[in-house]
Amino acid sequence: MDILGAMTSFPEIDWRTATNAISDVIQNRPLPLRIFDQIHMKAGDMVVQSQIVARWADGKRLAFIGDGDGISICVPFLKTQGILNYGPTEVMVYDFDERVCSAVERFADRERLDGVHATLYNCIEAFPGPNDFDLFYTNPPWGASNNGESVCVFMERGMEAVAHNGEGMVVIADDSELAWPQQVLSRVQQFTIESGFFVQQMTPRMHFYHLDDAPKLRSCNLLIKSLPGQSKTAVSEAITDPKRLENFYGRSTRPHVRYIREKKRLEYGKAHEDSYSLDLYR
Ligand SMILES: C[S@@+](CC[C@H](N)C(=O)[O-])C[C@H]1O[C@@H](n2cnc3c(N)ncnc32)[C@H](O)[C@@H]1O
Repeated sequence: MDILGAMTSFPEIDWRTATNAISDVIQNRPLPLRIFDQIHMKAGDMVVQSQIVARWADGKRLAFIGDGDGISICVPFLKTQGILNYGPTEVMVYDFDERVCSAVERFADRERLDGVHATLYNCIEAFPGPNDFDLFYTNPPWGASNNGESVCVFMERGMEAVAHNGEGMVVIADDSELAWPQQVLSRVQQFTIESGFFVQQMTPRMHFYHLDDAPKLRSCNLLIKSLPGQSKTAVSEAITDPKRLENFYGRSTRPHVRYIREKKRLEYGKAHEDSYSLDLYR
């Protein structure tokens, strides 16, 4: 079945209501930190992506390895809002940014999204489990400066989340005019095969991002699946090989931050007091 392609043209949703729902998620998510490759997907593409993920993950348990975009909450939210009538039964987000995890928990609590949770986790460390998810989703750092190794690290954790027995959706750069995204796509497909998975489908050049220095750069959906008969018992280990961590978030960057901590404040989605000043009438 043309799992991803067919869904990009699904006509049945109410776009206005869906976009307003996605807008609620955007209002709740923390501002991106570019130094850690947090670059948010644009709203219209989030609607399409959420519908694709909801259909793909219908009735399944889904792990997100990182999720600054907020697709993990868009998908169940569109369902509870009655915009979609399909979606995953359970969602767990693993992210090293406490602001991202809190945003997921806060939104899930407020909107009563049952079975949606987030946990603080750095993918350099051994995967904490559980390993019984059916599917994983990742939109990782795109590995422009390390030939996709950061993508492979995130994929490795996703593969562990499904115990090497399931499917994954990997969202990475796709641009036929630039060399690096093609090299990364090639490396990622090679890693997929080496890991006992295969590429089931690719939907090219799908999503745009709020990316000032490359506004035309898009990402694709790469759908991978484990080969039959894969081991379910592989032990997860921390990444210790320094070569795998070189240029992780871009040139000359090495992951030296374990967690991004949140400075708690009230009034999410509203302008912070130190971001403006007032000129008063005398
Ligand atoms: C790197 S961004 C990629 C761009 C993507 N569009 C986004 O903003 O979600 C994806 C997510 O991975 C998380 N992340 C980055 N490095 C991580 C790490 N070492 N371990 C776990 N999560 C990480 C970020 O906090 C972010 O939420």
